[in-house]
Amino acid sequence: MTFVVGENCIKCKHTDCVEVCPVDCFYEGPNFLVIHPDECIDCALCEPECPVDAIFSEDELPADQEVFLELNAELADVWPNITEMKDAPADAEEWAGVENKLQHLER
Ligand code: SF4
Ligand code: F3S
Repeated sequence: MTFVVGENCIKCKHTDCVEVCPVDCFYEGPNFLVIHPDECIDCALCEPECPVDAIFSEDELPADQEVFLELNAELADVWPNITEMKDAPADAEEWAGVENKLQHLER
């Protein structure tokens, strides 16, 4: 099992999640974060920290976001680790809850 960062993180990237992870298993791309599935210990600490509810337990991932399970695994292998919170993008509030953001994912 692992926790998964889902669609609502794209272009929001608040990074509150990284501050609480005891095993530092978040990885950062240009406008999205992912969790390394082999490093996550399923502690659930990050889930309530996300202001836009972008983090799910693998077994509670909405059906229309299943592609994010694979995306987290793939991108965690190539993106750099992030362990400290940073400022969200200036327009993060405008993107909160916007649907179909996968098209905006930058790699
Ligand atoms: Fe880190 Fe725990 Fe969240 Fe997994 S569930 S990403 S170990 S804080
Ligand atoms: Fe993304 Fe939420 Fe973390 S927006 S960076 S999953 S706090």
